[in-house]
Amino acid sequence: MNKSIEQIMQEALKEIKAATDRKTLEAISIRYLGRKGIITHFLRNISSLPKEQRPAAGKKANQAKQTLEKAIAQAVENFKRQDRIEDGGIDVSLPGRPSLPGSLHPITQVTNEICDIFKHLGFDVAEGPEVETDYYNFEALNFPKDHPARDMQDTFFVSDTIVLRTHTSPLQIRTMEKYAPPLRIIMPGKVFRCDSDLTHTPMFNQVEGLLVDENVSFGDLKGILTVFVHQMFDPQTSLRFRPSFFPFTEPSAEVDILCVICRGKGCRVCSQTGWLEILGSGMVHPALYENVGYEAGRYTGFAFGMGVERIAMLKFGIDDIRKFFENDMRFLWQF
Ligand code: DAH
Repeated sequence: MNKSIEQIMQEALKEIKAATDRKTLEAISIRYLGRKGIITHFLRNISSLPKEQRPAAGKKANQAKQTLEKAIAQAVENFKRQDRIEDGGIDVSLPGRPSLPGSLHPITQVTNEICDIFKHLGFDVAEGPEVETDYYNFEALNFPKDHPARDMQDTFFVSDTIVLRTHTSPLQIRTMEKYAPPLRIIMPGKVFRCDSDLTHTPMFNQVEGLLVDENVSFGDLKGILTVFVHQMFDPQTSLRFRPSFFPFTEPSAEVDILCVICRGKGCRVCSQTGWLEILGSGMVHPALYENVGYEAGRYTGFAFGMGVERIAMLKFGIDDIRKFFENDMRFLWQF
């Protein structure tokens, strides 16, 4: 035996590394570790060594044996794994696919934020049906029979008398029918209009607000909406009330906020006006109180309605409303 155990082991390791299949590995194992194998032979011969050399030689040989056994077992395992992959089976040794944590859609986040601000101002949350009768969507809200909002271009009709609600305002009637004043209700929900472009989608979200009590004034409406805008955007965001018209409020106003992008200087987002329209509002029209059976002349109140996507676009600086509905994870993960 001319070669040292060390050399033999190194050669064997090289062979193991070079082996391209399990058969070759088996042959290597037999040649070195088998009954008549080189290492086995080496171990047997230890007894013929001078007594003082035996312990060291035995130790070395045993270590070499263990190293080779380990290397062969590892190589066999690798081949097994390879076989499983080639068979089209599952490679159970691969790390699993992590399940990503879910998060709220940006529109849900903004809806919650809006509702939370009003909840802190004493408002309760109410919801109602998305498939609505013509009565609640239009008639009880004082829309004249020939009002353009009833036109086929805006409204998805289910039948002559059933529509997909075009706004959350029908909830004003539904809640007033159920509850007597004093009322402070905030009503989020999906609404539907036959419309689609950069700033309109056939389905979008609104939040409706309603406050009815004795002696409620337009000043209360201004106060509540000012608090809302300052909390939703920032306390430096001024707002202005522009006279407008809605059949269910009198007087009516549209509320603009100072452009969150240019701060009033004029830019593309605010069409160079310095202002951004964010909601419709007004004092509840007496015809609505009559429709729900409230005592005539006793109550006053205000209502408002805003588009959630519009608020979210301004808050996050998004210029295409359709991004909210494409469900592209690269977009959604940013919120
Ligand atoms: N419902 C209106 C719309 O969808 C928005 C609105 C305007 C709601 C004035 C109100 C209001 O409650 O008082 O365009």
